[in-house]
Order: sequence, then C-alpha cells, then structure tokens
Amino acid sequence: MIIPPEHPDFWNPASFLPMLQIRTKSKGLQPFKLWDHQMILAAAVQAAYAQQKWLVHVKPRQEGSSTFFTGIAFQHAAFRTGCQVAIIGHKKKNAKSLAEIANRFYKSCPQSIRPRRHGKLQRTLEFPDIDSKLDVASVQDDEPLRGETVQVVLGTELSSWQEEGGDEVWASVLNAVPEDGGFFVAESTPKHHGDQLHMLCMASERPDSKWMKVFIPWTMVGEYRKPVPPKWRPSKIVQDYWDEYPMITPEQAFWMQVSGLQKCNRNVEKFKQEYPINEYDCWAMTGDSVYDQSILRRWLQDLDGGTGLGIETDPWVQFQEPDPKDKYVIFVDPASSWSERDHYGVVILNITTCEQAAEYLGHMSAYQMAQKLGQWGRQYNEAMIYVEANGVGESVLSHLVDNPNISYRRVFHRTPSRHGRSRSRTPGWWSSVKTKREAEGYMQQLIEDESVTIHSARSLRQLLTYRGQWAERSRDASGGHYDLATAWAGASWAYMNHRGSSWKRKKKDPKILAAEAFRRLQSRIDGLSSQPKNTPWGSHL
Ligand SMILES: Nc1ncnc2c1ncn2[C@@H]1O[C@H](COP(=O)(O)OP(=O)(O)OP(=O)(O)O)[C@@H](O)[C@H]1O
Ligand SMILES: [Mg+2]
Repeated sequence: MIIPPEHPDFWNPASFLPMLQIRTKSKGLQPFKLWDHQMILAAAVQAAYAQQKWLVHVKPRQEGSSTFFTGIAFQHAAFRTGCQVAIIGHKKKNAKSLAEIANRFYKSCPQSIRPRRHGKLQRTLEFPDIDSKLDVASVQDDEPLRGETVQVVLGTELSSWQEEGGDEVWASVLNAVPEDGGFFVAESTPKHHGDQLHMLCMASERPDSKWMKVFIPWTMVGEYRKPVPPKWRPSKIVQDYWDEYPMITPEQAFWMQVSGLQKCNRNVEKFKQEYPINEYDCWAMTGDSVYDQSILRRWLQDLDGGTGLGIETDPWVQFQEPDPKDKYVIFVDPASSWSERDHYGVVILNITTCEQAAEYLGHMSAYQMAQKLGQWGRQYNEAMIYVEANGVGESVLSHLVDNPNISYRRVFHRTPSRHGRSRSRTPGWWSSVKTKREAEGYMQQLIEDESVTIHSARSLRQLLTYRGQWAERSRDASGGHYDLATAWAGASWAYMNHRGSSWKRKKKDPKILAAEAFRRLQSRIDGLSSQPKNTPWGSHL
C-alpha cells in the first residue's frame, strides 16, 4: 500500500518504512516489514517528534537499528523541503554500507511519491526540486559536516566516536544541528562507563533534557531465540547468567549458548555489553559500584519491568502525602557543590517507615530553593532539613534560616569541631571525607537489609551507577550526574542520626560498612586508570 506524504500516518515510521526494501541476511531483497522491537523504535520516534526531543538509542548488536534509522533519515531528505540530512558512521567502511542502505531505499521507494534525484554519487542523495539532500560521512573524515547547518543527523555507534574521530567530533556535529526544528538520533551498543553514549544516557534523565532515551534489551529481539533440543543442558556460563537474570526463556538461553556467546568469543562480560539486558549492567564494570547491584536492580525491575520507561521527568515528584503521625527528614544536595553541576537533588524521607516521600531534581536560585524547602518542610510535619554546607549550600542555608520571609526553624546544625574557637552550633551538614563515607555506608546498609523503600526509578538508576564521586571529585567529570544519589546518602545519614541506637535492624557495624564502601571505591579507581581505551568488542555495521 502506498501512503502519500499528505496522509496523516505518513510520518509514522511503522507506515512509511514498509514501503521501502531492505537486503535481509537470509532472503535477499524484501519489503521492510518491521520487527516487533522496531515497532518500539517507531513509537519512540513518534514520541520524540511530538515532544520535540532528540533520540538516544542503546541497543544490542545487529538488531536492525542502522537500517531503521537510515530509513528515517532518508524520509526527511526525500520528503521535507530545504532539509539537509547527515548520516555519520563511526568508520569509513561503515559509512559506505550506510550509503548503500540509503540508495536501496531510494531505489525501492514507490515511483509515484519518489522525488527526482540529481547526480549519482553513492554517498549523496540530492533532491533539487525540494532543495534537500542526504550526505553520508564518517567521523574519520576530516570535517564530517564542514561547518554546515543540518536539520537531521543520524549518528551511529556513538560509543566509538572518540576512539575513531577524536575529542571534538561530537561537539562539532552537535553544533551543526539547530535546537529548533532539528532532529538528532544517536544510536550505539554500549562500551565504556563514561563514554559519549553513557554521558548522553545520563543526560537524558535530567528533567530539562533535549534527549529521550530508548533502550532495547536483547531479550526483546525476536531473532535472538532458538528452539531447544531435548536433553539440552545449559553450560556453566549460561547457567550462571540465567541465575542472575531468571527472566530469560529456555529458547533465549539456548540461543545465548550456541550463538550469542560465540559471537563474543565466549566472554560473558563482553556478551553483557554487546547484548545488554538492562541499561546498567552494560556500563558497569564488575566490582565498580558502591551499592548492591542485585538488590537495586530487583527494585527497579519491580518498578518498571526493566524497560527504563516511566522514568520521572518532572523536577518535583511526590510519592507520599504527609502523614500527621510520621516524621520526615529532607536532605539537599546543593547545586555546584562538588563539581560544575547545576541541579539540586532533594530527597524527602519518612523516617517513621523509612520510605521515600518525595524528591526534587532541578535547577532554581538559592532563594527559590530555600523557599521551596521551607514550604516542603512545613508540609511534611516540620521536617528537619539537612543542607550540605558547601558553596551554594551556604546561601540556601542563609536564606532558609535568616530570611524573614522563610525563617525555617528546624534546620540541621552541626556541632562545632573540638579544635575550633567557636562553641556555637552552625547550620548545615558538613561533608568531610569522614561524613561522606559514613553516609555512603549507611545508605548501603539500608539497601542491603532492604529496610528502605525507594519509589523513584531515576533515584534507583543513579544509585545503581553511582561510583562514589563523594570521595573522588575528578571522576564525576566523566561519570555523569549523581545529585539524587548523593542526596540519598545524605538522607540515610540523617535517618541514622535520628534513629540513633533505637535502630534495630542493624546488621553490620556502620564503620565496617563505610570502610567496605571505601575499599570498593579504591579498587575501582585503580581499575580505571589501567583500563585500555580500545576494547576489542568487534565492529558494527
Ligand atoms: N525488519 C527486518 N527484517 C529483516 N531483516 C532486517 C530487518 N531490519 C534489519 N534487518 C537486517 O538485519 C541486519 C542488521 O541490520 P543493521 O545493520 O541495521 O543492524 P544494527 O543493529 O545496526 O547492527 P550493528 O550492531 O552491526 O550495528 C541487516 O542485514 C538488515 O538488513
Ligand atoms: Mg549499526
């Protein structure tokens, strides 16, 4: 069926793409009938159009995303007026095959709607009647976009851009796309914690982000399963993986053993990256993270089934109305305290039930923040407010305490240092290496004995990938944003401070826990410095 450009469904990829043809692995040229998981990509594209967002897609290998998004890029070039489109591959060879896909799309596009093409260059599709053009380039080219403005960019295998094209290529490509009316799709299999793709994924979780993330676990790809022969027994590697992810089916486990693992030289760590099952394991290097991965992952699974959908995007999210019988604490991780971050992370914890009541992640002035805090504090039964007392935190504190419009009374004051001259208590929570380690230790304890209830998916995600920037400042430059994770550690500290010795479910000495957290952190930092820049994780079409 031919759907003309004026048809309301024309820009729905699920209607447009099946009019084109692809070269499939087994059957040669075929109409582009979308796979089930490609239908999810189609829905994501439509959502991005509607919300004027850009897409970042984290993918397993060979799921057909280059084909899918090349189709989208082709559609923009061939059916929009004055539209410059660029497809940028991470290698020259890869650019060539993307160009082949684009040419095949042009040739198979129904004659009745196909625009007139000028020239025959493989890497350029030029449509003079509508003044539009599609170019295919690679990050290895001298200047992939030659300073032009382009309306639509497809960047493939973003995780490899830095290795292949150097540091500036991402920024220069990004600058070529106008925020208004532009559309950017970045897709990639994950590689390193802290690489461009990972940073973009972290950025997509910020409330005001331009980016929308779509993650496809390998288990969603229909091709990645095989009928199980009778009497088959999983190998040890597969059995261990299966124990870790009990949701995989026997057909998937069998495929993993006979196909997936083979493609990764039987290396299960490599398999976890090339065929990610959820978005955190693919970044994590084992032993890296501060908090217990399996528990946090299970909680997240309970919240959203592991799809990554349903992440909170509003700055303020309330999970629990104030209960007049309960007590609350509020912990504030102020903007730009330990690094160049510009967001506040605020956690409101019900300390009677140890359950999250609300959270805030966003930007505002110190005065506005203090006003909000005063308001929330009063709403939550005169909650004790803990503000980390560095940098911006100090100005929030001074508004909170001294500004006559706010003058909130229940602000945490720290005891003066024994060596200091002053005897008076000072407002604010002081973040020394010792208190930060304590805070992380308490958080870990609350997670490990599962006594805390966290309702926010974005908080859980930050906790999962959190690698202890509190003790190592330089790392958060590459590791992304952890405003909520730090607020959570602070809230745990506040919780312990209030519950004190009456806290019954204590399993381990907090000092031991703090020491353990610090040890993990150390081994991670050591590990990172020796980590090679190039991983031999195969190449992508
Ligand atoms: N809907 C589909 N039906 C059948 N074959 C498809 C479909 N979509 C893609 N393919 C085929 O799957 C193969 C992989 O496609 P593609 O290169 O687009 O995937 P990819 O996810 O970008 O892979 P890589 O991880 O290597 O970058 C190609 O041979 C392509 O023609
Ligand atoms: Mg690809």
